[in-house]
Amino acid sequence: MCGIVGYIGSQQAQPILLDGLKRLEYRGYDSAGIAVLDGGAISVRKCAGRIDKLRQMTDASPLRGTIGIGHTRWATHGEPTDLNAHPHTDVKGDIAIVHNGIIENHAALRRHLEKQGCVFVSQTDTEVAAHLIHTLYKGDMMKALQEAIRMLSGSYALAVLCENEPDVLYCVRLGSPLVVGVGQGEMFLASDIPAILPHTRDVVILEDREIAVLRRDSVDIFDDLGNRKTPAALHVSWDAAAAEKGGYAHFMLKEIFEQPDAVANTLTAYVGVDGFKEMLPGLPSRVDFIACGTAYHSGMAGAYYFAELAQTEAAAHIASEYRYKTLFPHPGQEVVAISQSGETADTLAALRKAQEMGADTAALTNTLGSTLERTVGKSLLTYAGPEIAVASTKAYITQVETLLLMAVDLGLRKGALSQERADELLNGLSALPEKMSRVLENQTYLQQYCDRHLHEKLMFFIGRGMDASLAMEAALKLKEISYLPCEAYAAGELKHGAIALISEGTPVIALCTRENLLEKTLSNLRETKARGAETICVCPERFAQQARREADIVWTVPDTDEMLLPLLVMLPMQLLAYHMAVAQGRDVDKPRNLAKSVTVE
Ligand code: M6R
Repeated sequence: MCGIVGYIGSQQAQPILLDGLKRLEYRGYDSAGIAVLDGGAISVRKCAGRIDKLRQMTDASPLRGTIGIGHTRWATHGEPTDLNAHPHTDVKGDIAIVHNGIIENHAALRRHLEKQGCVFVSQTDTEVAAHLIHTLYKGDMMKALQEAIRMLSGSYALAVLCENEPDVLYCVRLGSPLVVGVGQGEMFLASDIPAILPHTRDVVILEDREIAVLRRDSVDIFDDLGNRKTPAALHVSWDAAAAEKGGYAHFMLKEIFEQPDAVANTLTAYVGVDGFKEMLPGLPSRVDFIACGTAYHSGMAGAYYFAELAQTEAAAHIASEYRYKTLFPHPGQEVVAISQSGETADTLAALRKAQEMGADTAALTNTLGSTLERTVGKSLLTYAGPEIAVASTKAYITQVETLLLMAVDLGLRKGALSQERADELLNGLSALPEKMSRVLENQTYLQQYCDRHLHEKLMFFIGRGMDASLAMEAALKLKEISYLPCEAYAAGELKHGAIALISEGTPVIALCTRENLLEKTLSNLRETKARGAETICVCPERFAQQARREADIVWTVPDTDEMLLPLLVMLPMQLLAYHMAVAQGRDVDKPRNLAKSVTVE
């Protein structure tokens, strides 16, 4: 949530900061600002609204200087107003800071600082940190930050400019990501790698409680006691083009179309000519997935794979619930946190709880170097490339794929799955990218459907077993970017209440990937049709004839192994959400009230 950028070098900071913010806008987009230090004075431009509005402001009144910080905000404390936008300064404007995260003890600190004469102009927790750091500053910013770390509780990533130290950019993190980009005679700072990719692919990822001191030619890292640490630089494989739209109208559409490659890359990463590279270690007796949102839905799918292919008890848990639940440790249990960003606060907290309980933990993430990846002994990556659109598509598909591979690997090692069956699945997976491309080639029918159903008030998605999890993901996709109210139900559960919502013309979409459940789900569809629903069945070609006898509309995907069908039937669901949002004129990549990475509880 929120994006931070920083620059120190010999170029003008303003365009670099604005460009970096634009690349991070998906992290938060209700207000933005920059601060630049020049001639011993800090100047700030900030406003409610998006980066383009800030750019108009800086075009009209540019900031000159070669060191600066910037921020794009997703409001937590205080509405998105000009005054609440970052950067925040102390009363005199001697220091300026930008902040991601939440300062939990902001109210007590505010009272304490007010007593010392600090006057607050915003409602934010960040302004508290600005005044606090200024009060602690006695000519040595390192010391002030060390003291601030002791006094601030909550999570934060902070970047600090100080008028008295015009050649240094400071930053510190606790629980909120920050990366330093190492250039030639210049350094970059960002909360997320895509912001610095046009400048460098050599990054240093800060650990919690580390303070980074950036000068043009050096980056020095210290712990909170002032001990120097050796920065470990990482070379990222993503390039700048991967984080750009590349001719597509929206990042989401580009990312949908990248899925065949993402699936192929993920398969190659784990399955070589001699079989599997190490996936989950050991032979867990039980696997629990913890995740939020879309990643939780992939965990649900994973639980089915583990049960069916590896004969291993498995369950998915919503991380924000799991972290407060009474848990009972199981011998041999493995807890796997799933997260595209690897920075989701609830997922990280749930993981820590599992670790405290003594469970073995692993991570499945798309982000190398993320907090999640570095918190667990075993981390598995998805090879989706950077996902920028708020609505997750290629991360979900590669998560489901990797979970399937993990289940196959475990099933083989446990003797629960024959080599012959594993080969069938792996061969099916190799052939899948081509089938995915075929599904994506034809979107006209979905566009036309969305144009006709633009004014729907409610839609239903149903399915049984694994398909119920797909229904939940399809509904989430549609509601988060089109704002169309959707219900997702286990098909057999509808008649226990929710069927009362169905009236003349309500669209009900049934996802059917399992032959043994097809008849059952179709009969649930028939029940909704009897109450006036317009029924749609999404299924492989081989079910089409049977489906057409029951459903008003049938959308098919190519035939493949039923275990792989989830990776195909989700594609028209993603496109449905996309085209509905476009038809309704929504901001597809940056839907209201949301941000890409939820780093607050
Ligand atoms: O980065 P994560 O995978 O941990 O994010 C979890 C959810 O916030 C995320 O999947 C969210 O639900 C997406 N916007 C859904 O498209």
